[in-house]
Amino acid sequence: MSLLQLQSVSRRFGALKALTDISLSVEPGELRAIIGPNGAGKTTLFNLISGFFPPSDGQIVFDGQPIQTVNPAELVRRGIIRTFQVTEIFRSLTVYENLRIAVEIAQGVNMRPWMSRALWKRVDDQVDALMHRVKIADKAYRVTGELSHGDQRVVEVGIALSRNPRLLLLDEPTAGMGDEETHHMTALIRDLNKNQGITTLFVEHDMEIVFGIADRITVLDNGTMLAEGNADEISNNPKVQAAYLGQAA
Ligand SMILES: Nc1ncnc2c1ncn2[C@@H]1O[C@H](COP(=O)(O)OP(=O)(O)OP(=O)(O)O)[C@@H](O)[C@H]1O
Ligand SMILES: [Mg+2]
Repeated sequence: MSLLQLQSVSRRFGALKALTDISLSVEPGELRAIIGPNGAGKTTLFNLISGFFPPSDGQIVFDGQPIQTVNPAELVRRGIIRTFQVTEIFRSLTVYENLRIAVEIAQGVNMRPWMSRALWKRVDDQVDALMHRVKIADKAYRVTGELSHGDQRVVEVGIALSRNPRLLLLDEPTAGMGDEETHHMTALIRDLNKNQGITTLFVEHDMEIVFGIADRITVLDNGTMLAEGNADEISNNPKVQAAYLGQAA
């Protein structure tokens, strides 16, 4: 069974058709890239999947259940997790503290005035494990606001992982990064998917990254689905070349 299915999904904003008749399926364990020119509807697609607003038409099915009327908090509980803007990080706190807060919230123990030594240690172990999963343990006690942009986004991914994603949505995870940071983030996305089994959808403009790591690629253009396939199929698709690759060249 597919983990996620969109069935003839459309979203209008007044007269503007942001997405029209989108049907797609994401299988468990997949690493799927969503590409397309600016304004194609990629972020709108993520907003629909994560319940930020409902589709105007169509159905979204996650894990066999229709979710198009389910609120974002409930979808987080069910495992649909997206990365947030960098401003979601507490910039004056350390990496450890940011991830500790995230784990405490995810565990529902954040408002406790008193925590047993055993619980405190359990949370601490989880924070430590998270820092190792995203490979930022060496910067645990650095103030987040003083880290590079790339490292801040890695912390965001760590926060997302604290919520135990079954479907991870990353909107332009490498935007604004230099080569080394981009390489680190790309390797992390691949590792989370291939070695840690997290089904992931990511929006990315850099074709080298997309063709390098995605299992399948969905191409949006002007709110419609232009093509879907693997790297070979997409790079050889004349419609894609005309609409997207040609434009970028
Ligand atoms: N909340 C909204 N209200 C009105 N129009 C919106 C809203 N969200 C998106 N749009 C419009 O829908 C279209 C698709 O926008 P979207 O942000 O999904 O594109 P995108 O593919 O993510 O583009 P980019 O690559 O620039 O991030 C655009 O014309 C945008 O202006
Ligand atoms: Mg966008």
